[in-house]
This record gives sequence, structure tokens and C-alpha cells, in this order.
Amino acid sequence: NTYVVIMAGGIGSRFWPFSRTDFPKQFHDVLGVGESMLQMTMNRFQDVCPPENIYVVTNRDYEGLVKEQLPQLTDNQILLEPIGRNTAPCIAYASYKIAQINPNANLIVTPSDHVVLKQEAFTKVVKEAVEAADKNDVLITLGITPSRPDTGYGYIQFIDSEEQTIKKVKTFTEKPNLELAQMFLESGDFVWNSGIFIWNVQSIMKAFRQHLPEISEIFEEGASSLHTPEEQNFIVKAYSHCRNISIDYGIMEKVDNVYVVLADIGWSDLGTWNSLYTINKKDDQGNVVDGDVMLYDTHNCIIKTPKQRLVVLQGLEGYIVAEHDNVLMICKLDEEQKVKEFMSDAKSKK
Ligand code: GDD
Ligand code: MG
Repeated sequence: NTYVVIMAGGIGSRFWPFSRTDFPKQFHDVLGVGESMLQMTMNRFQDVCPPENIYVVTNRDYEGLVKEQLPQLTDNQILLEPIGRNTAPCIAYASYKIAQINPNANLIVTPSDHVVLKQEAFTKVVKEAVEAADKNDVLITLGITPSRPDTGYGYIQFIDSEEQTIKKVKTFTEKPNLELAQMFLESGDFVWNSGIFIWNVQSIMKAFRQHLPEISEIFEEGASSLHTPEEQNFIVKAYSHCRNISIDYGIMEKVDNVYVVLADIGWSDLGTWNSLYTINKKDDQGNVVDGDVMLYDTHNCIIKTPKQRLVVLQGLEGYIVAEHDNVLMICKLDEEQKVKEFMSDAKSKK
């Protein structure tokens, strides 16, 4: 009774101009390995549960992309949202639907924009967490040893006990400011929230009832139409009433039954240009290059440009040079938080 819920409805605006509203980053082969991030996510669970237990939640605009990239899924395994309402409604929808199919389901909820390099370690740690979630009313997340004061993550402080692999969480702080993030990093007893959650469907529904009752009421009322031909009609109505909130702010920061498993799984969030820069091999000048380029006196840059375009760069230090689909962006790597802004400004320009 293990099920996987892949969240694939985000637009990944920090990864513009590659990520676009009509082709978000999870559908890209970001690493150039011949598989999109979504396909990699699906394959990551092949030793965890059968493919028919894997569900993808996405915007209805991406239905075609999901079907094309994951032809093994049946229509019933693709949950379509009329609008993006962040991860709490997405998880509520999947949970209430899967509960109709199997009220004892253990769910693994996963983002679709991550890389996990250590596949065996991943399978092992996920199976351990599922076992714990099966027997206890707990909300488990995989925790990652932090390497920089990144303000884009959730920070988890846990109670350390050497004999327990699954550790009780003391505090969960979603996206702290830089000052706090630095403190957390220096203190040494915080880990990042990987955004991969494991829980029994009953535990998460209980947490929704306690902390986001306005969302649980909507889905409880329509639960019987899930898994019937009425499902889409109900969902369109439900989403028009749902508030926009992430699971991290809405539930994880508030509940007192959160546990963390420290996961040494070669995790990285490919959410931003910096993360792509970090994970890739650099040339001897510290550049990550994907494209046809001539570089002079250029160091520590990430360059991703179309193959058919010859790009000549001189004197650049620590820049992103990215071209995709008629947009060329040149931006300092350490100012990449502005990318989100560029994307929305570019939209209003059109
Ligand atoms: N279906 C659906 N609908 N999916 C969504 C939606 C939505 O409205 N919004 C986001 N997602 C998907 C994204 O595509 C992504 O795969 C995942 O949910 C997480 O959303 P992000 O928007 O990428 O979250 P984040 O990166 O800001 O923060 C989360 O992940 C961090 C680790 O990468 C949080 O859980 C943090 O605490 C965590 O550290
Ligand atoms: Mg993310």
C-alpha cells in the first residue's frame, strides 16, 4: 500500500528563461542526460512501488506534456488542476483521491525538480520512512545536510538521538531570511527540508483538518465524486475556493508530529541557476558550458545557449548567460534571486 505523488505543477520561475509557463523546468532535460526531471523522478521510485501506484499532479495545461513524457501512466493517474494553488491543495487533492482507493495508503510526496545521485541510498531511506509512517501518526520528511545559507529552503531543527534514525523535529522554519539562515547553518543542528514527505494518508488528512480546515472541508465534501466521472467538475469548483498556500507554511511549520530522516542521497534541488552551476563539472576556468562558445578571460560562469548559436564572451566573471526560445538573459550569478522578477516583467512586456 505504498503510493507516490509527484508534484509537477510549478512554473519554476527561478529558472527562467529555460523554465517557461508553457514548458516549466520539470519537463526539461536540465542535466542533458536524455531524461526530463519528471522522468527521472518517476524512475527514482521503481524499486519502491509498482508504476500503477504513482500519481502525478499538474496543471491541466501540462496534461499533454505529462502524457508524452510518461506514457505508462493511465488517465486516472494524472490529476489535473485548473489553477496553481501551491502545494497544500495539490497534496490535499491527491490524498483525498488516493484515500478513496486505499484508506490505508502510505504516501510519498515528491517534488519533480530534484536530482538524487545515490539511488540505492534513496530507495533504502524511503523504505525505512514508509515503514515508520505505516505504524505511527507521523509526518516524515527527508533532511539534507545544508551547505550554504540558502533562503529558498525550509530549515529543520531536530532532537538528536544516536540510536534513532527517524528523529523528532523541534522546529520547522520555511524560507528564513538570510540572517536566520546563516544562524541556522552555523549552529550545526539544522538540516534542509528536501520537500520529499512520507506519511500515512490518514495522518495527512488529520493534519489538514487541524491546520487547514478550510481546505479539508472542501475536499471532504466532494470526496465521493473523486474517482468518478464527476471528478473534474468538482475539482474546478474546489480550486476556485481553495486558498493558495504551500504545505510547508500551512502544515509542516505548525504540526508537532514531524520527524526527519537524515538522508545522504546526493540530493540537489535544481531550482536555480546556482544549483545547476554547483552540480555540474566545471572547466579549468570554473565555467559550466552547454553550447557553442568561445571564451576569453571568462571565469566562474554558467553558459547555456542553443547549439546553433556561436557565443563569444570576454571578461565575464560569475555570470549566467542563458538563451532559450528567443530570450537571452545575462545576469550575475549571485543576483539570481532577481530572475523571478525578470520572468514576470518579461510577461507584462508582451
Ligand atoms: N501540482 C502542483 N501544483 N505542483 C506544484 C504547485 C502547484 O500549484 N506548486 C508547486 N508545485 C510543485 C513544483 O513543481 C515542485 O516540484 C514542488 O511542487 C515544490 O514546489 P516549489 O515551488 O519548487 O517549492 P520550493 O522549492 O519553493 O520549496 C519547497 O522545496 C524545498 C526543497 O527544494 C519546500 O518544501 C522547502 O521547504 C524545501 O526546502
Ligand atoms: Mg523547488
